[in-house]
Amino acid sequence: MKTVYFTASSLDGYIAGPGHSLDWLFQFGAEDPSYEEFIKDIGAIVMGSSTYEWVLRNDTFADPDKPKPWPYTQPSWVFTSRTLQTVPNADIRFVKGDVRPVFEEMREAASGKNIWVVGGGNLAAQFHEQGLLNEMIVAMTPVMLPEGYPLFTASIVKPPLRLLDVKRIGDSFIQVHLQVTGQ
Ligand SMILES: NC(=O)c1ccc[n+]([C@@H]2O[C@H](COP(=O)([O-])OP(=O)(O)OC[C@H]3O[C@@H](n4cnc5c(N)ncnc54)[C@H](OP(=O)(O)O)[C@@H]3O)[C@@H](O)[C@H]2O)c1
Repeated sequence: MKTVYFTASSLDGYIAGPGHSLDWLFQFGAEDPSYEEFIKDIGAIVMGSSTYEWVLRNDTFADPDKPKPWPYTQPSWVFTSRTLQTVPNADIRFVKGDVRPVFEEMREAASGKNIWVVGGGNLAAQFHEQGLLNEMIVAMTPVMLPEGYPLFTASIVKPPLRLLDVKRIGDSFIQVHLQVTGQ
């Protein structure tokens, strides 16, 4: 069982542009094909409130007259200090504060499968700071954003991340697979 931060970023390390824009990412069209394989092994999902609200705005309630189902079948945890809109018939649990007790709940729910930290970069860093992040899989795209929402907000220098794999995906993605060491 692993906790994995799986995401896409600009070459200069942003996962969203100003105003939470992902237009830079969607210009590359179809979803990253490695996602299908990745999601099969996921038993629990966690994200911060900006990411959750992005999904609601751009997918679930993009057309308020025709809401779509929550895109994940796995139980999902959303970190927030606020009361957020809910999604009918979805297993979404709103939590706040220390990530460790939430991680324990997630691990139990995942029943041996992996945990996906969807983002953002500060929530992924909170997992790392508690020694709870095992791997990162980052699909870098050939764009520069210079401002926006960062890939990661904690420092990792010594020991560095260990490079497990690098893949070219189509013409637009460089996927790096990294292991967090020294925990
Ligand atoms: N490129 C990609 O593949 C990709 C992947 C994931 C996300 N994204 C995008 O990246 C952006 C990330 O936004 P973001 O950096 O703001 O990160 P975020 O993690 O989505 O949201 C951050 C917010 O979550 C809440 N939060 C985080 N930790 C908490 C804790 N321990 N306790 C209580 N609340 C906590 C706080 O808001 P409140 O307390 O005010 O609710 C915080 O401001 C979004 O636009 C998202 O759509 C892109």
